[in-house]
Amino acid sequence: MLIATPEYANGTSGVLKNALEWLVGGGQLYDKPVAVVSASPSALGGDRAQAWVRETLTMMGARLVPDGLLIPQATARIQDGRLVDGATVKELDELLARLYEAGGPRHEAGRPAA
Ligand SMILES: Cc1cc2nc3c(=O)[nH]c(=O)nc-3n(C[C@H](O)[C@H](O)[C@H](O)COP(=O)(O)O)c2cc1C
Repeated sequence: MLIATPEYANGTSGVLKNALEWLVGGGQLYDKPVAVVSASPSALGGDRAQAWVRETLTMMGARLVPDGLLIPQATARIQDGRLVDGATVKELDELLARLYEAGGPRHEAGRPAA
């Protein structure tokens, strides 16, 4: 799973916080590979929102991809709703590759026999 968060008042959005809280009891994210990306118009790229989300996912036992992606000055990298900054696209590709790897042996084991 890939979680992308904006930053509001030094935290994540209330909607995402609420969604994660609903999943705490059910354990749906336990041992699930999860990567986190945050984006913000500021120079910090939503680092505090991302830290909050990561802490919550750790508490939930998710298999968190170690390094997330911070996207600072996000508005300058987006045109007509599309991410147009090549360096950021590359970083996102790399994060997705690490997320796929985090699936690891269990991911392979879950595949049906050919
Ligand atoms: C109430 C409010 C609080 C915000 N707080 C932060 C913040 O703490 N840090 C930050 O980097 N950006 C902050 N922002 C900017 C948002 O990250 C920015 O608006 C972002 O693009 C969210 O998308 P939206 O404006 O389409 O909702 C805030 C924006 C609003 C409206």
